[in-house]
Amino acid sequence: MVKLILFVNLILIFIISVNSQIPYGFWYSGDGEIDLTKSIVIEAFLDPVCPDSRDSWPPLKKALHHYGSRVSLVVHTFPLPYHDNAYTTSRALHIVNKLNSSATYRLLEAFFDQQDKFYNHATFNLSKASVVDEVAKFTSNEIGNSNYAAIKAGFSDPKTDQATRISFKYGCKKGVYGAPFFFVNGFLLPDGGSPLDYKTWRDVLDPLIPPEEQSRTENLNFFL
Ligand SMILES: *[C@@H]1O[C@H](CO)[C@@H](O)[C@H](O)[C@H]1NC(C)=O
Ligand SMILES: *[C@@H]1O[C@H](CO)[C@@H](O)[C@H](O)[C@H]1NC(C)=O
Repeated sequence: MVKLILFVNLILIFIISVNSQIPYGFWYSGDGEIDLTKSIVIEAFLDPVCPDSRDSWPPLKKALHHYGSRVSLVVHTFPLPYHDNAYTTSRALHIVNKLNSSATYRLLEAFFDQQDKFYNHATFNLSKASVVDEVAKFTSNEIGNSNYAAIKAGFSDPKTDQATRISFKYGCKKGVYGAPFFFVNGFLLPDGGSPLDYKTWRDVLDPLIPPEEQSRTENLNFFL
């Protein structure tokens, strides 16, 4: 807790504009428009086949809905080498983001919901080509079957490989070494690698919202 308070003070003292410095990633727009000028920015480094990344998503999503346009999220894929198929599933997200960026989070949630399809034992005896095909089929089922050919082609497109590598390297440059890792306005939250619960998100974000905006959030929730 003391760690958390210190951390929050740090962000309050050094609020900086990080928005223009975030080069890549998937912006979340669950509740509509993103207004970066007014928004706190959360950067999340997630691995689609990592159980802790999966568990971190529902409380984070709940927090995003609570704060609406006051908080924005950008997700970067961070495939961990000890999770089978982490790179292939991450690449699928970059492929879909290029084809239809509105479907990226749907696919991320589908990977989280059905991680066992791609985790360790499930693909132990499969060739690389079969795994790519399985992931492409899974992906096109999730975002619309007519996209299968485009998704499959995406796996031979060096640009999607490049995008997946850049997300990973961007994380490495920021000192990420596990998933999930979260940064708020550029500052790394403590306990990287573990999911944060909803209360922790509220404890981190509430002090960053100006008081008049906070009462607006509460009133809004009251009427919803
Ligand atoms: C893009 O994805 C969204 C959300 O899944 C879907 O509603 C929309 O129809 C898709 N657009 C295209 C062109 O496939
Ligand atoms: C992989 O194949 C071998 C040989 O056919 C089999 O014995 C083993 O159970 C398979 N492993 C998995 C995880 O399916």
